[in-house]
Amino acid sequence: MREVQAREQWGSRAGFLLAAIGSAVGLGNIWRFPYVAYDNGGGAFLLPYLIALLTAGIPVLLFEYAIGHKFRGSPPRAFLRLSRPAAAIGWWQVAICFVIATYYAVIIAWAVRYVGFSVGQQWGDDTDAFFSDFIHQADEPGFSTNYVAGVAVPLIAVWAITLGVLAFGVRRGIETASKIFIPLLAVLFAILVVRALFLPGAAQGLDAFFTPDWSAITDGSVWVAAYGQIFFSLSVGFGIMITYSSYLRRRADLTGSALVAGFANSSFEILAGIGVFAALGFIAAQSGVAVNEVATSGIGLAFVAFPEIISQLTFGAGWFGLLFFGSLVVAGLTSLISIVQVIIAAVQDRTGMTRVPAVLIVGGATAAVSIALFPTEGGLFLLDVADHFINSYGIALAGLIALIVVVWLLRKLPVLQEHVDEISAIRLGRVWTLTLGVITPVVLGWMMIDTLRAEFAENYGGYSTGFLVIAGWGVAIGAVVVGVVLAMIPWRDVASDGPAVTPETGGGQAQTRKAEN
Ligand code: ALA
Repeated sequence: MREVQAREQWGSRAGFLLAAIGSAVGLGNIWRFPYVAYDNGGGAFLLPYLIALLTAGIPVLLFEYAIGHKFRGSPPRAFLRLSRPAAAIGWWQVAICFVIATYYAVIIAWAVRYVGFSVGQQWGDDTDAFFSDFIHQADEPGFSTNYVAGVAVPLIAVWAITLGVLAFGVRRGIETASKIFIPLLAVLFAILVVRALFLPGAAQGLDAFFTPDWSAITDGSVWVAAYGQIFFSLSVGFGIMITYSSYLRRRADLTGSALVAGFANSSFEILAGIGVFAALGFIAAQSGVAVNEVATSGIGLAFVAFPEIISQLTFGAGWFGLLFFGSLVVAGLTSLISIVQVIIAAVQDRTGMTRVPAVLIVGGATAAVSIALFPTEGGLFLLDVADHFINSYGIALAGLIALIVVVWLLRKLPVLQEHVDEISAIRLGRVWTLTLGVITPVVLGWMMIDTLRAEFAENYGGYSTGFLVIAGWGVAIGAVVVGVVLAMIPWRDVASDGPAVTPETGGGQAQTRKAEN
C-alpha cells in the first residue's frame, strides 16, 4: 500500500480567511466588475448584483465549503466520497482550473511589465497601439509559434513565484503569502482609490457608475451578468473553495467564514468600481468626451484606458501606475496560486505524491502549457476565446451540474446542512436549501440557455468558426471529456487522514474523528 500522509492544515482561521479572500479578489474584481456593472445599468446593477451575492454567491460558497470540509479532499476526492460517479464533476473542475491557470498567468505577466512601463510612461500617446506592439499582436486571429520575449520573460517569473509559494505548502506557502499580499493589496488599493477620488472629473465618473438605469432591472441579460460576475469573482464553481476548506480543522465556523469572505470580496469589488470610474471620469473630462466613451471592457480598460489616465496626471503619474498595476499583480497572484493548488491537490490525493514533486510535475506542466501557448503573436486571441468559453461552459455549467447532482440526484443537501450546523455559529435555515435547490439552478439554467442562444446567433468576437471550434468549444468540451475519462480510472481512495474510504462509508470525516479520538 502506498504511504499515507497527514492532510495539510491552515495555521489559523484568519489564515484560511485571508487565503479565501486572496483567491476571490483577483483580476475579476479590478478590471471586470467595473465594466460589467457599468454596461449593465450602472447603479441599477448593484441591486441584481447584491441579490446574486445573497441568493447564489454566499450559498454556493457555503455549499463548496461544506463539501470540502466534510469530505476532506480536493474536488475529485470530495465528490468521489459523495458518490463514485460524481468524481467526474471534480475532475472536470480540475481541468477547468488547468485552462484558467494557463491564461490567467499571462494577464498578470502583462501587468508586471506595465509596472515597469509606468515609470516614465513608456506607452506614449497612443496606448492602444502600444499595447498591440508590446504583445506583437498578429493581424489575423489564429495560432502562432512566434514568441514574444517581452511577455514570455515576466510570464516565467510569474510561474516561478507561484510554484515557489506552492512548494512551501498550505500553511507555510499559501497562508504566509496571503498574510503578506492581502494587507499589501488593501493598502495599495486604498491609496489608489483615494487618489482617484481627488482627480478633476471624478464626480462625473462616479455619476456614470452610480446613476441607476432602472429599466436595466427588467432586462434578463443584466441578471445573467450579475450571477456570472458573482461566480467568477467569488471563485466558486471551479473547486477552489472545496480544496481550501479541506485544510480547515474539524471544528470550523463555516457560515461565519462564508459571510466574511463573501462580503469582503464584494466590498473590494465595489471599491474597485469607485476607483476605476473616478479615474475614467478624469480622463473623460480631460478629453472632453462622455464617460461611456472611455469605459471599455476587460483588457482594454486595464491596459489601454489606464495608461492614458496615468499619462494625464500632472504629478505622481509613475506612482499611480505603480499602484494600479502593482495591485493587479498582487491580486492576480493570490488567485492564480489558489487555482493551481486545486490541480496539485487533486493529483496528490489521487497518487499519494508528496508536495514538492507534485508542484514540480503538475505545476510545471501547467506552466509549460501556459508558456508554450500564450506569449505568442496569437496569444491574445486564444486567451480571449478560451476565457469566454471556459467561463460560460466551464465554471457556470460545472456549478449548475454540481448542484443538480448533489441536491436533486443524490439528495445530499440535508447531510451537508447537518454538517455545517453542527460546527458553525449561525445555523442554516430553509433559505439555504431553497436557494441551492431552486433559485440558483433556475438562474444558472436560464443563463446557459441565454449564452448558448447568443453563441449560435453570432460568432463570439467575430472570430472564424474554425478558430472558435478549436480554441473555444474544443477547450470547454475537452475539460468535460478529461473529467469523465479520469473519473473512469478505478480509484481505491486511500484517505490521507485515515484508512481506505469508499463512498458508502460516508467519507473521511468519520475516519478523521476516529483518528483524532
Ligand atoms: N476570483 C478570481 C478573480 O476574481 C478568479 O479574478
